Amino acid sequence: MEIKNADWYDLLQDTNWTPKYVTEEELFPPQLSDPYGIPVSEWETFDEPYKVTYRDYVKTQREKDVGAYSVKAAVSRVDFYKQADPGWKAVLQMHFGAVPFLEFGSVSAFARITRFGRGPGMRNMANFGTLDEIRHTQIQMYFAYEFLSVDRAFDWCQKGLNTDNWVIMSERHCFDDIEHTRDAVTSAVMLNFAFEQGFTNLQFVALSADAKRYGDFSFATMLQTVQSDEARHSQIGEPLIEILVRNGRKEEAQKLVDISFWRVWKQFSALSGIAFDYYTPLAHREFSLKEFVQEFVTTQFLRNLKALGLDKPWYWDEYFVPDVETYHHAQQIGIYMYRDTEWWDPIAGVSPQEREWLEKKYPGWNDTYGKVWDVITENAAKGRTERLTPTIIPVMCGMTGFELTGVAGSKWNVKDYTLDLDGRRYHFGSPVDKWIFEQDPARYKNYYGFTDRLANGMIPADEGLFEYMGMSPEERGTCGMGFKWADPVKRAA
Ligand SMILES: [Fe+2]
Ligand SMILES: [Fe+2]
Repeated sequence: MEIKNADWYDLLQDTNWTPKYVTEEELFPPQLSDPYGIPVSEWETFDEPYKVTYRDYVKTQREKDVGAYSVKAAVSRVDFYKQADPGWKAVLQMHFGAVPFLEFGSVSAFARITRFGRGPGMRNMANFGTLDEIRHTQIQMYFAYEFLSVDRAFDWCQKGLNTDNWVIMSERHCFDDIEHTRDAVTSAVMLNFAFEQGFTNLQFVALSADAKRYGDFSFATMLQTVQSDEARHSQIGEPLIEILVRNGRKEEAQKLVDISFWRVWKQFSALSGIAFDYYTPLAHREFSLKEFVQEFVTTQFLRNLKALGLDKPWYWDEYFVPDVETYHHAQQIGIYMYRDTEWWDPIAGVSPQEREWLEKKYPGWNDTYGKVWDVITENAAKGRTERLTPTIIPVMCGMTGFELTGVAGSKWNVKDYTLDLDGRRYHFGSPVDKWIFEQDPARYKNYYGFTDRLANGMIPADEGLFEYMGMSPEERGTCGMGFKWADPVKRAA
């Protein structure tokens, strides 16, 4: 007689018991487990949407790995890479330096939820999540490793995490905040719900679609296997929020979502946004960041949020919606201009045809960001390379760690939102970033961002700045196209 999983699953997954040798408090200290004081009987109602057994889990994961590794073995990745478009190279270099270490970080976050979560179902799912994130780290490192023989940028897959490069610092500040310095409940809301449900679709589904269109099938397949895990373990957030709301903690849950959604959005906008709208070769580009956000965030995520009894974040209409059309365009200018401080070789992505595409997807682009690119293009076309490398350090936002930006050109609106505390002035790129700081000043106030460190002499100037970031001369980004993108303009002049 065959026994179906459903017949025994509920019985076996109930792993809460009354401890004999220590107190409940010692086993689950509230500051690591649940500072919201939800009764254990409530935690036991946690009903995981995906009911997986270890045996089934291993079988499925094995199939995924076999699929991804065999596609990889079938195509010569090195030859593919050598012939790839400079924009696609930039996508790969940036992705492999920026993403795998976050996956590695997620291992510990999931392990904390596994150990300190109060709901048996929550611990179960987080346990599989821990294994998932180990796999995500390994498979991506393995794929990056192959390119090492042809491009040093892929060193950053391992090395990046341990440096104080400004992009890495920006990522760490965000993910340390939401994943690594909070109790099991809070980090699950921030990580599983706001980050994974809100945004991983963008990096893994949308980018994978672009990869497939570009013909990078092994990268596309690898991303898909990662996202299929995300789709499962990101579900920890839903029953969790239901429990919080039902137990009178809606206000707290809402605030956690509002903080983490914004923090993660800024990272995705600046990094994935540029990959979609500037780096992906035009002929293979179908959707813009704005369209991807429309589909995955504005429609799907917002629907889930409302279904769980939460509201859209307070800043949605006033700040998030306009940000989708602006933030990454401004960041792209800075990222291209300060390219020698990055491990990848950025491209400008603003040839006449690309500008046409940008204007079509973001009406008004020519009149705003286009104006800045007019000047950069002219300098590039005339070979004034000294004007293509800024020597001043920009003011950076104390929350995002990215340059303070706004809309350029005819709609200029760049503003520094400041806050004075204990004799120190903090700078923020938006009212939302400042609001996040104000929710918990003790958490953020002792941090020194990149500009702060430069201003108070913690980072040496000039060459010392690169050493501080761990960047030898060969590791510094250069224009991925060697300024050739300005050639059509040169010819026309
Ligand atoms: Fe992951
Ligand atoms: Fe994940």
